[in-house]
Amino acid sequence: MADQGRGPGLTTRQGHPVYDNQNTRSVGPRGPLVLEDYHYLEKITHFDRERIPERVVHARGAAAHGIFVPTGMAGDDPVTKYTRAKVFRKGTETPIFLRFSTVIHGGHSPETLRDPRGFAIKFYTEDGNWDLVGNNLKVFFIRDPLKFPDMVHAFKPDPIHNRQMMGRFFDFVSMSPEATHMITWLFSPWGIPADYRHMQGSGVNTYKLVDDEGQTVLCKFHFQPRQGIRNLTSEEASAIQARDFNHATGDLYDSIERGEFPEWDMFIQVMSDDEHPELDWDPLDVTKLWPEDQFPMLHVGHIQLNRNPADFHNEVEQVAFGTGVLVDGIDFSEDKLLQGRTFAYSDTQRYRVGPNYLQLPINAPKCPFATNQRGGQMSYHVDGAGQGANPHVNYEPSSLNGLREQERAGPPPRPFVQGHIGRQKIERTNDFKQAGERWRSFSDAERDELVTNLVGALSQCERVIQEKMVCHFMQADREYGGRVAAGLGVAMPQREAAE
Ligand code: HEM
Repeated sequence: MADQGRGPGLTTRQGHPVYDNQNTRSVGPRGPLVLEDYHYLEKITHFDRERIPERVVHARGAAAHGIFVPTGMAGDDPVTKYTRAKVFRKGTETPIFLRFSTVIHGGHSPETLRDPRGFAIKFYTEDGNWDLVGNNLKVFFIRDPLKFPDMVHAFKPDPIHNRQMMGRFFDFVSMSPEATHMITWLFSPWGIPADYRHMQGSGVNTYKLVDDEGQTVLCKFHFQPRQGIRNLTSEEASAIQARDFNHATGDLYDSIERGEFPEWDMFIQVMSDDEHPELDWDPLDVTKLWPEDQFPMLHVGHIQLNRNPADFHNEVEQVAFGTGVLVDGIDFSEDKLLQGRTFAYSDTQRYRVGPNYLQLPINAPKCPFATNQRGGQMSYHVDGAGQGANPHVNYEPSSLNGLREQERAGPPPRPFVQGHIGRQKIERTNDFKQAGERWRSFSDAERDELVTNLVGALSQCERVIQEKMVCHFMQADREYGGRVAAGLGVAMPQREAAE
């Protein structure tokens, strides 16, 4: 029986009792050690392997369990009009796991940095898992996945002296005009959310919803915090960082422990599934917002986080989200960035966590599942064992009671797509207009902070980079570009100062 105030007995992983956890086995009290000390060998070799590679981006994060409750849309316009996904069926409740993160720096970096915030949700639906791997800001820096490794390299610390440099960051950005809209968000107070509970979430990419007849609409997913939105000025963020660099993780964990469960309303925006030639931007372009007056936010449910992880490593570190993880009723759009992402996630997870990462409880579906996948490092169960199939049959098709294909309508056939194969840009790039609209939509305080932050960061850059950036801001809005130029002492040629 355990002593009062002391827990159950300690063992090795082999189940052997540990009777001395303070002293290694040695020849005499002064050593040397003996190799037969299995307890020490097991303990230290496991410790040596405690870390797995951290995520190449979004390494710092915090997460919680919760639920998604669809409420159906108001009036005669239910979400089921657009999608047959069971997760949206009124009256259901789906368990979720939501991981928030910062993007650029490592696993223990400060949570007060200017950075997008990850907002990744795993919905454990009755039809299998659905991952929505989003961010807090609703747009992104680039629209072609080929540019992603360069972008991340430029934003991460210098490969020689290991410091993040604004000169490298803006070197890349100044030659990627499509980033102007995202930069306008990021250097405003929206670039430092006060914590994870007071920020929005968005799927960012364009997806498709599929109805019972196989008809599709284009769709964006968004989340609005019921706690309200709160952002920080650079000064406020510095003050927090001086006393606590884990403030967002702490805020999330402590609020859930107190029983204050954070909630977000979930919305979709939809438009017909075509190219929309009437728009001066492309609905598949991830650098663009869908204006809410044209594409209203439709309420489809809410999420609540109500349980902290039992173990940070097992759940928060090893959870694996991916944009390829969709359920019936939700489909990919042709959005090139989405397609590029979809390869990257499971690829990195097979390396980062291991080939059987989907067997871990945090990643496995909660509905029945059965595959013929076998073996690989760390395999510890047979998917579907005990469901009545012949365990000798690890292949399909078979007449010997093996797993069989299910009778169900697959995803709808893709519309006929035709074009020349080649490295091509989308036609309606329109890189600056929405950045200008964003500038004009900001309050005076947000505009002042944006200019101060940009001038501060660009002051650390070469003149040629400053000029290119001012030129982009000028094309977004003359006042915007003019104020950044004035702050930097950059004189713009007349041609570039023109509308
Ligand atoms: C071509 C573009 C992109 C590529 C190639 C890419 C790739 C990656 C990779 C490799 C990871 C690490 C995953 C892991 O180790 O589990 C990751 C994490 C993440 N990415 Fe992306 N990403 C891209 C764009 C985006 C965009 C546009 C968003 C937001 C909508 C986003 C949101 C996230 C989030 C939230 C995580 C962290 C997920 C978690 O909490 O585990 N990424 N990304």
